Amino acid sequence: MLTICLDNKNDMICDNLGVNEAGHLTFAGHDTVSLAEKYGTPLYLLDEDKIREKCRIYMGAMKKHFGEASMPLYAGKALCIKDIYRIMREEKMGIDVVSSGEIFTASAGGFPMENSYFHGNNKTDSDISFAMDKGVGYFVCDSVTELLAIQKEAEKRGSIQKILLRITPGIDPHTHQSINTGRVDSKFGAAIETGQAKELLSLALRQKNIAVMGYHCHIGSQIFESEPFISAAEIMLSFSADMRDELGFEAEIINLGGGMGVRYLPDHPLIDYEANIAEIAKHMRMICDERGMKFPAVRMEPGRSIVADAGMTLYSAGTVKIIPSFKSYVSIDGGMPDNPRFALYGSPYSVALANRMNEECDFVCTVAGRCCESGDIIQEDVKMPKPERGDIVAVMTTGAYNHSMASNYNRIPRPPVVMLRGGEDKLIIRRETYEDMLSCEL
Ligand code: LLP
Repeated sequence: MLTICLDNKNDMICDNLGVNEAGHLTFAGHDTVSLAEKYGTPLYLLDEDKIREKCRIYMGAMKKHFGEASMPLYAGKALCIKDIYRIMREEKMGIDVVSSGEIFTASAGGFPMENSYFHGNNKTDSDISFAMDKGVGYFVCDSVTELLAIQKEAEKRGSIQKILLRITPGIDPHTHQSINTGRVDSKFGAAIETGQAKELLSLALRQKNIAVMGYHCHIGSQIFESEPFISAAEIMLSFSADMRDELGFEAEIINLGGGMGVRYLPDHPLIDYEANIAEIAKHMRMICDERGMKFPAVRMEPGRSIVADAGMTLYSAGTVKIIPSFKSYVSIDGGMPDNPRFALYGSPYSVALANRMNEECDFVCTVAGRCCESGDIIQEDVKMPKPERGDIVAVMTTGAYNHSMASNYNRIPRPPVVMLRGGEDKLIIRRETYEDMLSCEL
């Protein structure tokens, strides 16, 4: 059973959820049924206060445990829209960007690009040049060929480009295979084990227009425990100490990547991000003492854990199909185009009937999308009151990797985004139109 009925307050997976006197689901203090009426469905909601709260948890904990020179970088791949970068700028976060499109969005959102870190295993020459034009602070260099391409462009401009080297520490964080990127068998980075990390560093140190600032690794996503991060940090620091001894270079910055998990279901653990960070810092200090190293400036790159539970998607229920003594389907007016995560990864979500929260959840169903594809499913084994056509179906925790992974499959326009801030609701992205979908067709 993947989902648990949300008719009971104890089942609420995040403190921005509630039920009001009308028996409606509330999100960030707003009546979700009224929002669905006002803006139509499907509809993405974002809770700005929750996003800021998460930024502050990371910022406070990292400064406290890793020191003032440390900072979190928001990984925009989780949700990349202009308004997010306004919040990131105001919260004094750094950011992780992975494409010229993300750089363009962050820059259009007014983000100071000197605090950005440019990732990706295949930055093109035009990406490299675009990033330098936009003043991206750091490149996270993935390979020898990329290193030489960065050097060439920086030399042409007569500039010095700061970089981190992406290292694969060889860790299996016991997470979903396809989002596990830290093992040696990875398209990302240079492995310590194979000697390629040292070769990359040695070559980088010999480039005239490149300043190597340190190392980066990312071990995976939706990780609940601190142990995999501790192991990664230990491996990175030991590598740094070895390279100091062998090549005379000690890293100023160690970037541990993103990946801390979030609670999608009531039986997922509530993660104490500060406690995890404190634990990682403790182990890092031990290694630094043992190896006689200065404690580095630490970066972490949370994406999901900044925005996931600040998001919710509202749909309208349509066809309810009961297959006698087998199963039931509730079809909604969205699906894999706005949330492909169940179709791709079998990801769990909590689902509720937002306009009938006080009724008994005695109907078990598969919540399916409207695409012409059997795999277009949002969640299986959902418990809710038996829906009527027009009831509002709410899917929680959709702030990360939903809007950013949305498509126009079956020519379905992307939903609008409404930002909730205090008592206000503000449309920040309008609903896509059919004309929008044709706008690139000549
Ligand atoms: N830094 C790097 C280099 C990354 O590759 C990622 C995620 C992050 C940071 C942020 O990780 P987070 O804190 O969000 O876990 N589409 C998948 C997730 C792919 C994550 C890829 N990299 C999903 O929907 O679950």
